[in-house]
Amino acid sequence: MILVTGGAGFIGSNFVLDWLAQSDEPVVNLDKLTYAGNLENLISLKNDSRHIFVHGDICDFELVASLLKQHQPRAIIHFAAESHVDRSILDSSEFMKTNIDGTFTLLETARQYWNLLDSDKKTAFRFHHVSTDEVYGSLQPNDAPFTETNLYQPNSPYSASKAASDHLVRAWHHTYGLPVTTSNCSNNYGSYHFPEKLIPLVITNALAGKALPIYGDGKQIRDWLYVKDHCSAIRRILEVGKVGEVYNVGGWNEKANIDIVNIITTLLDELKPDSQGSYSRLITYVTDRLGHDRRYAIDARKIERELGWKPAETFETGIRKTVEWYLANQEWVANVTSGEYRLWLDKNYSARQV
Ligand code: NAD
Ligand code: DAU
Repeated sequence: MILVTGGAGFIGSNFVLDWLAQSDEPVVNLDKLTYAGNLENLISLKNDSRHIFVHGDICDFELVASLLKQHQPRAIIHFAAESHVDRSILDSSEFMKTNIDGTFTLLETARQYWNLLDSDKKTAFRFHHVSTDEVYGSLQPNDAPFTETNLYQPNSPYSASKAASDHLVRAWHHTYGLPVTTSNCSNNYGSYHFPEKLIPLVITNALAGKALPIYGDGKQIRDWLYVKDHCSAIRRILEVGKVGEVYNVGGWNEKANIDIVNIITTLLDELKPDSQGSYSRLITYVTDRLGHDRRYAIDARKIERELGWKPAETFETGIRKTVEWYLANQEWVANVTSGEYRLWLDKNYSARQV
């Protein structure tokens, strides 16, 4: 049995689906179902007894402690977080609660549970913390990609809260010996990605004939990884990762935002041509994100060298699968883009100058 937090979100749901496609080991999935959590992502597991969904908050000490006691997991894989930089800029309070206090609660309940395990189970237990490359700050054009020993220089409320959580994980290992591993991953993309983030936003806006908002000059660089490759990296770390270690995970795939948007509009032109002309006509430059990090890039040599992990997808294969997934799942898109999502679009985009 493993315990996953945030398993109804983008990466967490991909992880749970992939896990149960490859193993019969059951998953307890603890998720608060915030705006980003969506049980529709897990609909294929509806009648699957290996998936135990628990609607709850990782900040709830009693709940987490009772789940650990009841299910006795051999590992915790911690995805749950507030994850969107723009939301953290407009209001960061939930980020501090979930990302910092929630991680503290998990670590502390895990420590108490782990302390009572017998010696074999204690040695085998793992707490895997899913973190981000944003904790390392922003790179200049000629800087080397982030390695695991880069300084922490988080720039947004989101990345600062994730950096804080990484430090807590490190401290719970150093002080109490809790067997932790941490991964710092670059930007993910793929199925079930909530359309507040660049790639799904561009796909869904284009299909709806809406503007494709590019912040600033569009030349900010991100290092993109197909979500299933992130999931395979986490599985690999769980299998053979060394306790106390940090692994950077990335796709060796740096691209400027405007290039990403051009690739998507070209793919859409091919897969779902629009009678009004190329989707690129919808590209619209808008006011930049406050404190916008210019470039992220991950040096993923450690996880490749020490654990033998490499991404399976190139950006070309991954983005094609992703666009095809959104075209084939318009009902999912329609369901997530109603309600709260509309309020978010108004909050984040209406005040930006074109
Ligand atoms: P997401 O926003 O899509 O999903 C987050 C999930 O956590 C949701 O299901 C939400 O309901 C749940 N959640 C939020 N607060 C909770 C709480 N207090 N208790 C229980 N559940 C709660 O996020 P994502 O993009 O899937 O990211 C997952 C993790 O991976 C995060 O920790 C994020 O920092 C990290 N990460 C994301 C990326 C990326 O590109 N998306 C890259 C690197 C690392
Ligand atoms: O690097 C890993 C991080 O990647 C994760 O830790 C975060 O959880 C995840 O959200 C992501 O953060 P980014 O801020 O890089 O992702 P986002 O998709 O929001 O933005 C990608 C780039 O596109 C960024 O430079 C901002 C830009 N952008 C974004 C949106 C939503 C636009 O130009 N227009 C937009 O409308």
